[in-house]
Amino acid sequence: HLSAGDVRPKVVICRHLGPAMPSLLERNDIDIVLWPEDRTCERAWLLENVKGAAGVLVLLGDRVNEELLEAAGPKLRVVSTMSVGYEHIDLPLMAKHNIRVGYTPDVLTEAVADISVMLALMAGRNDGVAYSIVKNGGWSSFAWSPFTFCGPQLSATASSPTRTVGFLGFGRIAQATLARLVPFGITHCIYTGSPNSRPDTTRDAALQAKHNLKVLERVDADRLARESDVLFVLTPGGQETYHLVDAAFLKKMKKMSVLVNTSRGSVVDSDALATALREKWIWGAGLDVVEGEPAISTDHPLVKEPQCVMVPHIGSATFQTRLDMATRAIDNLIGGLFGGEMPAEVGK
Ligand code: DGY
Repeated sequence: HLSAGDVRPKVVICRHLGPAMPSLLERNDIDIVLWPEDRTCERAWLLENVKGAAGVLVLLGDRVNEELLEAAGPKLRVVSTMSVGYEHIDLPLMAKHNIRVGYTPDVLTEAVADISVMLALMAGRNDGVAYSIVKNGGWSSFAWSPFTFCGPQLSATASSPTRTVGFLGFGRIAQATLARLVPFGITHCIYTGSPNSRPDTTRDAALQAKHNLKVLERVDADRLARESDVLFVLTPGGQETYHLVDAAFLKKMKKMSVLVNTSRGSVVDSDALATALREKWIWGAGLDVVEGEPAISTDHPLVKEPQCVMVPHIGSATFQTRLDMATRAIDNLIGGLFGGEMPAEVGK
């Protein structure tokens, strides 16, 4: 005996998904409740509207926790997030209630790898300061001069042939970033993996051969900090990785090194990084993510640091990628809703 709600399950969509939306709106087998504004969905609205929902499509800012589950009630069977990260979702709780969780890996790998390289270049080459000088009409005070605005070079040169890139976390995005750096003459790569993962020697041998690397080595955090010329933070957020980059880590880094974070702000201790930049423990930082975002004001210690280049979590923000993410999030939702296959299900 099916109730009307089971025949036409209710789904809550926490943001209009632009050009991906028609594929959802045209369906007549679901009852859609859509947050009507183009800003983070208000919690009170979500808690009220999620009542009786079988599915919910969320973004990074929407916490999926006990409170949400209680508000939704027992029909909830799928949560789909339009993101590769899922620290905003309480996974053990979802497992306990048999709620399937969809996410959007793979489709954003290339876009985030692109911006990781962009930030490495910008931070190394003083782009924060140089760009604002031009924007503020100050170029005339800075005629070309031999060593003004110099910074460390990302690419290898005949006089400096060995540049070591380091990756804190060596998943899909890190490997795509490495591939982009090979044409820059990079031949040395080191990385740290999650303590729970075993070294993947077969994969590494294949990557080393493919990119013709002299070194590709899994190392401990100490060596990663000490040996990297450019260090990319590309590990998921959450308890396990909280402040892995802290004052002790930053103190070990090379004075001319650059730190890039395009994964989660929580991995890097912001105050320690601001100190590291101010006291010149490292050369510069390029950040797409910062702890506490989006509440980052001009008073934030990292915003005030001239050697810090910061963009507001736009790593995956290309038209192509965001459309792919939205489409995948919808497909995950529909798959989970009707008990079918989800293109990317957490834990599967
Ligand atoms: C994600 O998907 O988790 C990114 O941080 C945003 O694209």
